[in-house]
Amino acid sequence: MQFDTSKYLRCLKTKNLGKNIIYLNQTSSTNDEVWNHLKNNNHIVVVTENQKKGRGRRNSNWLSLREKSLTFSLGIQLNKSNSSLIPLISSIAIYNAINDICKINIGIKWPNDILCNDKKIAGILIESKLKKSKMIFNIGIGVNVNWDKNDIISSNLPNISSISLEIEEKIMREIILSNFMLQMENLLLANNEEIIHQWLARCMHINKNIKFHYNNEIIHGLFMGIDSNGFAKIESKNNKQIFSSGVIEL
Ligand code: BTN
Repeated sequence: MQFDTSKYLRCLKTKNLGKNIIYLNQTSSTNDEVWNHLKNNNHIVVVTENQKKGRGRRNSNWLSLREKSLTFSLGIQLNKSNSSLIPLISSIAIYNAINDICKINIGIKWPNDILCNDKKIAGILIESKLKKSKMIFNIGIGVNVNWDKNDIISSNLPNISSISLEIEEKIMREIILSNFMLQMENLLLANNEEIIHQWLARCMHINKNIKFHYNNEIIHGLFMGIDSNGFAKIESKNNKQIFSSGVIEL
């Protein structure tokens, strides 16, 4: 079934966030649409059924399937002071939105991938711009909601899954999106300490040995947590290091 904006709006329980929504039957990337449409709006959500040139992190492509993926971007303007933990906030919000509805065993992989049984089911790409004293965030999220086994096989992508495959039930994408907006609205009011606490409670590799790819280097170490900026704290060969970017391989 096609994404139903009226159903989404009926489910939406926020004061403001998420009410300004644009649905597009197809587009190159919802992140591009947010940059085109945000202008004087404080926030905007763009959802599409058919994303032709989806972007992932680290210059990768992102594959969305018509009627089976939730593909959207949230554009939001924030004061600089409360914006540093947006990557963590976004991952907690999508984690909660999925977990509340599906009761599925998921975890966050630093910085903001959502995995179920070690397979990726959702990814987040955050772009940002500074505008006078405001930060504009473009939070693009792709969730593999109702992909079946054949979709996974024909995607040729390693270590991915979908919500419906893991719980053997089809899920309404409108409910995940409306719940995500409510979670975001609440988390935007939380203080940094609380956000870090919530993120750590959902992280799947805290105090675990990990393989970390940083530029062309591979580091084997212990993931010790995150600092006040959300950067990864990794201990390797008795040496504690902080990383703002990189990829964890579990
Ligand atoms: C990742 O690499 O894990 C991030 C993937 C982000 C994909 C989403 S889908 C909606 C939005 N539009 C894009 O072009 N990318 C993001």
